[in-house]
Amino acid sequence: MIISSTEDTIDLDKRFQLAQEMAEEAGALALDYFQRRHELMIETKRDLHDVVSIADRNVEDLIRKRISASFPDDGILGEEHGYEEGTSGYTWVVDPIDGTAPFLNGLSSWCVSIALLHDGEPVIGVIKAPCDNETFAAMKGKGATLDGQSLELDPERTLQNGLTGIGGNSHVPPAMIGASITSLLEAGGNFVRTGSGALMLAHVAAGRLVGYYEPYMHAWDCLAGYCLVKEAGGEHLRFPVEGETIRKGSPVLAAGPGAFRDLEELAPRIENF
Ligand code: IPD
Ligand code: CA
Ligand code: CA
Repeated sequence: MIISSTEDTIDLDKRFQLAQEMAEEAGALALDYFQRRHELMIETKRDLHDVVSIADRNVEDLIRKRISASFPDDGILGEEHGYEEGTSGYTWVVDPIDGTAPFLNGLSSWCVSIALLHDGEPVIGVIKAPCDNETFAAMKGKGATLDGQSLELDPERTLQNGLTGIGGNSHVPPAMIGASITSLLEAGGNFVRTGSGALMLAHVAAGRLVGYYEPYMHAWDCLAGYCLVKEAGGEHLRFPVEGETIRKGSPVLAAGPGAFRDLEELAPRIENF
């Protein structure tokens, strides 16, 4: 079926509304768990730093139920409950809690991340940071906002006069994460790591960080942030989402217009490790 662009826009507007509602509801539920986190049973996944609890699963359940009730034909990929293909051409990509390690250790740097893909591109990105009570929201062609205030990146901000977020996990050799920090410092930049890649990407969109690089992250970690950065006037690497590749990880890099090329140039390549 060929749908007209007006119908497309209406479809997207409705989903944008839903994404923002879900981010608020999911954020409130996650915050409630955070406030009584000492009651949670912590489980580990790949390694002792890759943690999860019932909070992650139940927050994702809430989001999945809301999507299925409103758009039963949409696909959903969530970190905790996997991938269900849809038939509408729209796929939601959800990280119920990004920054679970900070969350379970009592740090405030975690968020709910909700993206929507259409034609292989993130067309909606909403990130809720409950501890800061901040909501970052973007829809393709409509710009990005932080709590309703429009975001626009400054081309004068560079790796040298701003802070760059760097992330890492056990999917890549530790030396590769070290090399990203070394080359950034050698270029006269400086790094920050808060433990939530999705939230650091939202901070790029807000101009608080000039860029973000992590050698390997999944679609649920980065697609909402990518939509936010692009709509704020920045750039990002393409994330492969065709077929089964949507479940796999890829390098993640996004930055404002004055930092993107430089960050891309200094980011280490996996074939060298
Ligand atoms: C992780 C965080 C972290 C990043 C890891 C991600 P999770 O997600 O975004 O900052 O370095 O690569 O896996 O496990 O907290 O959802
Ligand atoms: Ca994540
Ligand atoms: Ca997560």
